[in-house]
Amino acid sequence: MKMTVAVDGPAAAGKGTLSKALAAHFGFAHLDTGLLYRAVGAGVLAGGDPIKVAQTLEPAALDNPALRTQAVAEAASQIAVIAEVRQALVDFQRDFAARDGGAVLDGRDIGTVICPDATVKLFVTASAETRAERRYLELVNAGQTADRAAILQEVRARDDRDANRATAPLRPADDAVTLDTSDLTADQARARAIAIISERMPQG
Ligand code: CDP
Ligand code: CDP
Repeated sequence: MKMTVAVDGPAAAGKGTLSKALAAHFGFAHLDTGLLYRAVGAGVLAGGDPIKVAQTLEPAALDNPALRTQAVAEAASQIAVIAEVRQALVDFQRDFAARDGGAVLDGRDIGTVICPDATVKLFVTASAETRAERRYLELVNAGQTADRAAILQEVRARDDRDANRATAPLRPADDAVTLDTSDLTADQARARAIAIISERMPQG
């Protein structure tokens, strides 16, 4: 049986950090699906047509540190409301999820749309203030200047757009386990998630 772990949740909840740690622990491959939307967002900022960019996206485009900026995140959340963009990215994600050896995918709609039959679904969340503070610290620790209030506003605007769009809105799947990490360190969140997944893993 193929093992797929779906990790969904709002911006800066710690999905990527957690998913990477889970993939290392269980020996699974990891796909940060936000990078797909970020790559399309970056293509649009460069003057491309969102649907065309999504339909011709090459996996190599995901390996680009320039996708990490707030401007690209904002552009990503704007193109992520377009149904044809989302549709163009489905096969790549499902093929990744179906690989032998297990996979962890993190995003917004993995448990609800991309992998409704995932072995384990986690919904990772934290208060908007906590999440904005994490993003702020990431930028400051990377030597960049950052504005706390602007980051909080950006995180809230993106959450709002992600949760209220018509196609694949951000919401926990009915069978997802919610992990609120507001008062957890990344290591504590990792330990909780490993326990949740281990309990639900098929025997053998
Ligand atoms: O992928 P997502 O945007 O959800 O979050 P991330 O890129 O993993 O960033 C989360 C940030 O919060 C990282 O700097 C983590 O070190 C930190 N963090 C965490 O991931 N989990 C916690 N429980 C506490 C802090
Ligand atoms: O790292 P962070 O959580 O801030 O953002 P991300 O996961 O890189 O996603 C950037 C944007 O892409 C999100 O705000 C969503 O609008 C969109 N996205 C999506 O719609 N569906 C996914 N499976 C992943 C990301």
